[in-house]
Amino acid sequence: MSKAKTPSHSKTIKTEVVCPNDTNPMGILQGGRLVQWMDIAAAVSAQTHAGKICVTASIDKVSFENPAFVGDVITIEAKLTRAFSRSMEIFVSAWSSNIVRPKHLLISESYFTFVALDDSGKPTSIPQIKPISKKDIELFKTAGKRRDRMSEK
Ligand SMILES: CC(C)(COP(=O)(O)OP(=O)(O)OC[C@H]1O[C@@H](n2cnc3c(N)ncnc32)[C@H](O)[C@@H]1OP(=O)(O)O)[C@@H](O)C(=O)NCCC(=O)NCCS
Repeated sequence: MSKAKTPSHSKTIKTEVVCPNDTNPMGILQGGRLVQWMDIAAAVSAQTHAGKICVTASIDKVSFENPAFVGDVITIEAKLTRAFSRSMEIFVSAWSSNIVRPKHLLISESYFTFVALDDSGKPTSIPQIKPISKKDIELFKTAGKRRDRMSEK
């Protein structure tokens, strides 16, 4: 079995600027576009950890806490919380800022589950993860509970 990796090894930051074709008629960033950006950041994080092609298997509840507008800079952070056998959970948060309000404002967060695939497209094993910080240890523990909850549905 390959050596365990840390969450920071595959931490991914993606930035986007909200353009008019990302918004609804009110100039507010569309939820689906934001989830697409979050999914890409999560995929990069999953593939960096696994060293293999990974696909989205599920997305936990997504809520939108604050709107983002044309011109806002969206910063998305994706970080592995836990690696299971062939799947892994990634916590993704998205923040907005702009020239007049440089302080980041949370707009959305969610947990994504990705599965690593081998060359024939079948689920395949991934390295384990070793959480280091207090927050990463807490996320690691609660990932098991989220997985149990999802499998009950
Ligand atoms: C995700 C996928 C690869 C799973 O394939 P599968 O043969 O059903 O997988 P298995 O039942 O053998 O499970 C493999 C792992 O995936 C996990 N998994 C499977 N379906 C899952 C789901 N819906 N949500 C979360 N985890 C899931 C299993 O828990 C297992 O994890 P573990 O090995 O860490 O314990 C397959 O369903 C698939 O290809 N789905 C489409 C993916 C895709 O196209 N994504 C983009 C969506 S637009």
